[in-house]
Amino acid sequence: MVKLELREMDAGRVAVLRIENPPVNSVGSAVRVSLDEQLKAALSDASVKAVVLTGTARFFSGGADIREFNTPKAAVRPSLRELIAQIEAAEKPIVAAINGTALGGGLELTLGCHGRVADPTAKLGLPEVKLGVLPGAGGTQRLPRLIGLDAALEIIVGGEPVTAQQALEYGLVDDVDNDPVAKAIELALTIAQGVRAPRRVDHDPMDMPASAAAFDSARKNAERRYRGCIAPLEAIACVEKTLTTKLEEGLEFERDRFQYLVNGDQSKAQRHIFFAERKAAKLPSDEPADVKIRRVGVVGAGTMGGGIAMSLANAGLSVVLMEQSDAALERGWGTIVRNYETSQRRGRFTAEEVEERLARIQRSVDYADFADADLVIEAAFEDMAVKKEIFSRLDAVCRPDAILASNTSRLDIDEIAGVTSRPERVLGMHFFSPANVMRLLEVVKGAQTSNAVLAAVFGLATRIGKVPVLVGVCDGFVGNRMVSHYTREAYFLLEEGATPAQIDGALRRFGMAMGPLQMQDMAGLDISWAARKRQAPTRPAHLRYSKVADRICEMGRFGQKTGSGFYRYEPGSREPIPDPEVHALIEQCAAEAGIVRRDISDEEIVERTIFALVNEAAKIVQDGIAQRPSDIDVVYVAGYGFPMFRGGPMFYADTVGLEHVLNTIQRFHKEHGEFWTPAPLLEELVRSGRRFSDL
Ligand code: 3HC
Repeated sequence: MVKLELREMDAGRVAVLRIENPPVNSVGSAVRVSLDEQLKAALSDASVKAVVLTGTARFFSGGADIREFNTPKAAVRPSLRELIAQIEAAEKPIVAAINGTALGGGLELTLGCHGRVADPTAKLGLPEVKLGVLPGAGGTQRLPRLIGLDAALEIIVGGEPVTAQQALEYGLVDDVDNDPVAKAIELALTIAQGVRAPRRVDHDPMDMPASAAAFDSARKNAERRYRGCIAPLEAIACVEKTLTTKLEEGLEFERDRFQYLVNGDQSKAQRHIFFAERKAAKLPSDEPADVKIRRVGVVGAGTMGGGIAMSLANAGLSVVLMEQSDAALERGWGTIVRNYETSQRRGRFTAEEVEERLARIQRSVDYADFADADLVIEAAFEDMAVKKEIFSRLDAVCRPDAILASNTSRLDIDEIAGVTSRPERVLGMHFFSPANVMRLLEVVKGAQTSNAVLAAVFGLATRIGKVPVLVGVCDGFVGNRMVSHYTREAYFLLEEGATPAQIDGALRRFGMAMGPLQMQDMAGLDISWAARKRQAPTRPAHLRYSKVADRICEMGRFGQKTGSGFYRYEPGSREPIPDPEVHALIEQCAAEAGIVRRDISDEEIVERTIFALVNEAAKIVQDGIAQRPSDIDVVYVAGYGFPMFRGGPMFYADTVGLEHVLNTIQRFHKEHGEFWTPAPLLEELVRSGRRFSDL
């Protein structure tokens, strides 16, 4: 909890209070009670001249204990706000020694102190908006008063931590030192001796010209970055209060807005995703990795292969990027170079950082260059014969302990593994496009993939900043198996009376990053057309099939890359423009299928598409293709643009009520037939009064 240690210095005795609450020193009810006791002990001991507050290991504090939100423990006194008020009002100087990461309530604790010293490795931030809340222990009021509006808005609304050096430049900390506790003691004693004044936050309204432009631009950024999320906008409103109110009144306002957010569905959904991501990263077996991945081969320098190579190089791995011909290799390389140049222009990397990254990628047209790779990821054309040919060649040249992975988005990993002599070292690594940006990685476990291999790949995934989710073998794994039901309903709705813009608009208003038809246009319609042609011979003849997408492809409209698809595009623009030609084609398909078109509501669009996802997801959980429902939420939020503030399809279904979901699915089943056969797991949950989150 909180330990008190007395240090005898020449200038007097100092109490060092150390928060010890592994793993991240979160400040929950027990820590608050303990800190209160130790603080009172230190402040009432006449021999103590000053107090230093610090943490342990890598953490000062990871913030309030999120697990206690919405539980009785959150109401245990003193509250964090009361503790900070006590620190701020103390007669003796209290200085924070920020030994490591200080986030959320952890950083807010330091804002009540009379000085702050950070370790050079420390990270300081207020990430609350990412959890659907706002800094609720004074952060929105004290930070602007300490470092000014612009910097405070950036930290509070951006949610990203700053380094110790940046914090020093902002005036957030007074000093950066390799021994922050010693430096904090020194600073506290100079304040106690009156040599230096304590840095107390001014309680009056901020004396700044009201900068409407700063708030407008913060709101615009927030709306773009966190579309549909209310927390960032509430946080901005709190910061705005600093201009017109005294600290106490601002704190009350902040407390009220925090309570509103913490009790709302959005914050519950965002916290669910926070924990779901961490759960997804845990494998069922704790067998350790049996190979350390340092050098990775990538087969194919197309969009996926290039993006994969970049994410590996960004994380410091050595990469061999291979193509069949020099021409294809140079084309892929050119794209990588251009992507890095864009990142450099946008200030993400310096010229040196770009050079370092490019230098990590060795170009090759020879399989022999994979001889020393620890892992090879195949990102070639999506065709079983092509994959088999590549894997047998890889098996021949790679070390016996090397791991062989396919980036296939739907093909059978076991069939691919079958052409190698090492099926236990073969698996799927399904990246999402653009692979250097998207966080999701579906890790596909084949029938024989070993636990040690999974551990190695999960370790690598975390190193390269991906969110790995373990999935089993089936057509489309988790994400694409579900998405085919989602797009199927979108196509049916087109025939029944909706326009592409209406479907995409309804789903964007629901919160999806992009509507399904816009997404198809972006991904390229020819890819799914090829898959449909492959599946045509085995497609059950009695089931409804929409020809809309096929007919659009037959017109040579493959989406953005050909300037037209479900929409048309002006040259060089990605802005979808509704196209009467497509509307006429949809009407023609509907007439041929004998469908009488009708008015379709936004509500029906959302329920038909989103509940199709939920129903299939329930079958996926039942089939054991996903380990748990929350993994599906991670797949959809991190890989498919599902709104974070709805917590993913399973959490959303729990929120609207599984009974409502099942009733609606049963109604669709009656109206639209077999596709809507309710998942037995969903029926079972409703019967037993449980939710997906109970599994
Ligand atoms: N409360 C409760 N548990 C937390 C937590 C928190 N604030 N922060 C992390 N944890 C848990 C994680 O769930 C995980 O648990 P598990 O081992 O059971 O899965 C464990 O601590 C370790 O976390 P990570 O795996 O994420 O460890 P890392 O070292 O990779 O990252 C971290 C550490 C940067 C602190 C990261 O955990 C993080 O970003 N945490 C959340 C920080 C945050 O949002 N703080 C604000 C909280 S809200 C607040 O303070 C309200 C206030 O304004 C009133």
